[in-house]
Amino acid sequence: MLVIVKDSYDEMSREAARIIADRLRKKPDLVLGLATGSTPLGMYKELIRMHREEGLDFSKVTTFNLDEYVGLPPDHDQSYYYFMKENLFDHINLDPRFVHVPQGMAKDVDAFCGWYEERIRRAGGIDIQVLGIGANGHIAFNEPGSSLGSRTRIKTLTGTTRQDNARFFASMEEVPKFAITMGVGTIMDAKELLLLANKQSKANAVRTAVEGPVTASCPASIIQMHRSAFVVLDKGAASELTGLYNDTWESKIFP
Ligand code: F6R
Repeated sequence: MLVIVKDSYDEMSREAARIIADRLRKKPDLVLGLATGSTPLGMYKELIRMHREEGLDFSKVTTFNLDEYVGLPPDHDQSYYYFMKENLFDHINLDPRFVHVPQGMAKDVDAFCGWYEERIRRAGGIDIQVLGIGANGHIAFNEPGSSLGSRTRIKTLTGTTRQDNARFFASMEEVPKFAITMGVGTIMDAKELLLLANKQSKANAVRTAVEGPVTASCPASIIQMHRSAFVVLDKGAASELTGLYNDTWESKIFP
């Protein structure tokens, strides 16, 4: 696990984009796992800039998103598909045939989840998976207590998560009750992981994930078991770590 601490959110975002761009230049048909949420927005902006100004080419890239709300159509402004379109897909040259976001409107959700896993396998597996982290240590919609071997499946959203999201909907009743999410096991199958976190509010979760015991109580702690995980942080998110990490990162030839 490589922990990289940058001075600011912008620097964190640029570093993360630099890692993705490096992988993409080495493998133009990269299989890229994507996340929604506020954390990767700066990285997406930087990737868009690299596409526009440096010709970073996404035409052969296949993407798989981590999760989606059940019951929201892709054109709903709170769906994760819509989020990805607004913040990344519409601004780079991805081939829409190679873009995958779990289908919140799937009629048979279990069958869809099996299909999604199969699709990832057929694409050759995810080369690099972008992750955020919840303040409670969740990754994707794998909340504390989720099986560390879990696969893509439907999950019931906790009351807290629904309440947190209520501000984006007209009423509490409209907040989805379920989501489709890659499992912790699905995420761990990716060849590389790129977990990003910024802000002091994530510091406790980051410390638990990076330095605590590996436990389903903090699903993100499983990254300690991954053979190639990057954890890119701003100073706030790194503020509770006790180890010195940049020493190893800065002396490394770009991996
Ligand atoms: C998003 C996702 C979530 C977020 C996490 C952090 O697809 O799966 O696990 O990564 O909730 O969210 P932000 O970045 O908004 O703090």
